[in-house]
Amino acid sequence: MPVIRRAESTDAPRLAELAELTFRHTFEAANTPEDMRLHCATHYGEVIQAREISDPEMATLVGEHDGQLVGFAQLRWGHSPDCIKAERPAEIQRLYVREAWHGKGIAQDLMAESIALAKAAGADQVWLGVWEHNPRAIAFYRKWGFAEVGAHVFPVGTDPQRDIIMTRVLGSK
Ligand SMILES: CC(C)(COP(=O)(O)OP(=O)(O)OC[C@H]1O[C@@H](n2cnc3c(N)ncnc32)[C@H](O)[C@@H]1OP(=O)(O)O)[C@@H](O)C(=O)NCCC(=O)NCCS
Repeated sequence: MPVIRRAESTDAPRLAELAELTFRHTFEAANTPEDMRLHCATHYGEVIQAREISDPEMATLVGEHDGQLVGFAQLRWGHSPDCIKAERPAEIQRLYVREAWHGKGIAQDLMAESIALAKAAGADQVWLGVWEHNPRAIAFYRKWGFAEVGAHVFPVGTDPQRDIIMTRVLGSK
C-alpha cells in the first residue's frame, strides 16, 4: 500500500505533474480545451507547487507507492466562506488520486491524515468545495461525514462553475 507523508520541496516537479494530470482526467470531458489550458497554466507547475509545499498556511500530503506519487491532499488555513460557522476552519483545498488507485483506500488514508493534521492544528471544522457534477467525490465526502452547507463559484478558465460547500465538524473521535 502507498505510504502517506508530508510533501518535501523535492516533490514539487512530480506533484505539479500529478496535480495537472488528475485535474485533467477528472474535468477534461466537461470543459473546453482553452478553459483547461488557462486553469492548468495558472494553478500547476513546479514553481507553483514548490511555493504551496513551503507555504506555512498550507499542508501538502502525498501518497507514494514504489517511488511513484499516486495521490495528494492539500489543507489550507485562513479564508473560509460565510456559510462556514467555525472558530478555526481548515479547508481541504485539493484531494486527488490517480485513476488506477480509485476505490483502493488511498483516498481514505489521505482523508484520515488530513483530518488528523487539521485537528492537531486546532481546527474545529474541515470544509471543502466540490463541483456539483462530481458525484463520486460527493459520495466519498458524504461517507466521511461531510454535509452540504452552501455553494460558491469556482472558475475554471473563463467558466464560473458551481461548487457545493461541504463541512465536517471535528469532534474528539
Ligand atoms: C474523489 C476521490 C478522492 C475519492 O477516492 P475513491 O478512492 O474514488 O473513493 P471511494 O471509492 O472510497 O468512494 C467513492 C464512493 O463513490 C461511489 N461512486 C462511484 N461512482 C459514483 C457515481 N458516479 N455516483 C455516485 N457515487 C459513486 C463509490 O461506490 C464509493 O462509495 P462506496 O464506498 O459506498 O461504494 C477519487 O475518486 C478522485 O481522486 N477522484 C478524482 C479527483 C476528484 O474528483 N477529487 C475531488 C475534487 S473536490
